[in-house]
Amino acid sequence: EKGGFDSFMDKEIHDQPQAIADTLLGRMDASGKLVLDEMNVDESVLKSIDKIVVVACGTAAYAGQVAKYAIEHWCRIPTEVELAHEFRYRDPVVNEKTLVVAVSQSGETMDTIMAVRHARQQGAKVIAICNTYGSTIPRESDAALYTHAGPEVAVASTKAFLSQIVACYLLGLYLAQLRGNKFSDEVQAILTELQAIPDKLAKVLENKQQVIDLAHSQQDTQSVLFLGRHVGYPVAMEGALKLKELAYIHAEGFAAGELKHGPIALIDDGQLVFIVVPTVRGRDSLHAKVISNIQEVRARGANTIVIAEEGDEAVREYASEVIYVPRTPTLLAPLLTTVPLQIFAMELATAKGLNVDQPRNLAKSVTVE
Ligand code: BG6
Repeated sequence: EKGGFDSFMDKEIHDQPQAIADTLLGRMDASGKLVLDEMNVDESVLKSIDKIVVVACGTAAYAGQVAKYAIEHWCRIPTEVELAHEFRYRDPVVNEKTLVVAVSQSGETMDTIMAVRHARQQGAKVIAICNTYGSTIPRESDAALYTHAGPEVAVASTKAFLSQIVACYLLGLYLAQLRGNKFSDEVQAILTELQAIPDKLAKVLENKQQVIDLAHSQQDTQSVLFLGRHVGYPVAMEGALKLKELAYIHAEGFAAGELKHGPIALIDDGQLVFIVVPTVRGRDSLHAKVISNIQEVRARGANTIVIAEEGDEAVREYASEVIYVPRTPTLLAPLLTTVPLQIFAMELATAKGLNVDQPRNLAKSVTVE
C-alpha cells in the first residue's frame, strides 16, 4: 500500500500533485466560475461577515497562516489565525458576523473541536476544511469544504497541508466572487494558475535528488534555521516543524524581517539556514529585502540554502546552494516551496535511521485536550 515507496511519507509527498488536482476537481463551472455546492451557509450571511478567524493546530495552523495573506488580500475581510487551544480559552470576540474556519486533516483534533463548539455557542458560522469524511469537526460545523488529498497515514502532515492551503484559497476566492470585490480579474487569474500547480509540483519532485543529497550531507547538523517573508514566513515555520517532528533536530522558523531584531545573534560559522525567497514579480521590494537578509547571514558564516523561483539569478551570489522551483504567482508559491523542505526533513531523518512515518512521542490525531 506504500505504492513502491519506502515510507508512507515518501508516498504522500509524491501524491501531492494528485491531491491538489483532486481538491480542485469539480469546483469550477465551464466559465471558470467557482461553484462550491457544499457551502451550506446562506449567501446573505457570507456577504455580511466582517471577520474571519481560522482555528487549527500544528501544520493545519500554518496552512491557515498562509491563507490569511490571500484571503485578506482578495476579500478585504480582516482575518486572524489562532491556535485552537489558545482561541478557546481566551474569551475571543466572536459573534454572528464572524466566520470561523476550522482546518483539520483528521477532523478529530480535540483542541479544534472545542474551538468549533465555542465559536458556535457565540453565534458564529463555522466552516470546516477537513480531509476526513463524516469526522467530528465537519459534522459539528455549519458547512464543510473537504480537501480531497486521500488518506494520510504518516504522522507528519504533507499532502494534507498543501490541500488545506488550496481549500482555504478556494474559500477566499469564493467569498471574493460572492462579495464582488474589485480584485475579480485577479481571482480569475489565480484560478487559472491554480490549475497549473499539479504539473509544477511534479517538476519540483523531479528535481528532488538535489535535496536528498543535501539532506544526507547534513546528518550531523544540530540546529537549522528557516527564514521567510510574506507567505514564505509560515512556510519557514512549517519547514522547521517538519524537521523537529521527523529528525528530532532543533529547528526554528523566523520572519526574515525579524532577523535583525534578535535571531541574527544565533548565526555562527556553519549554521545551516534555509531562506524561502519571495517571487520577483509583484513583490520587488520584498525580494530585495530578503536578498539582503541572505547576505547578512552569509556574512556571519551561515551555510545558506535558498529556495527561489526559476530565473531568479540575484539569489546566487550569497547562496551556498539554490533550490529552484517553477514560477507561479506570489500567493501560490507556498504550494511549491514547501516541498523541498518536506523532502529535506524526511531524508535527513532517513539518513539518521529514524522511522519517518511514526516519529517518537507523536500521534496522527490528538483526541485529548
Ligand atoms: C498533530 C499531528 O498531532 O495534529 C500534526 O501530529 C497535525 O501532523 C496536527 O498537523 C493537527 O491535526 P489535524 O488532524 O487537526 O489537522
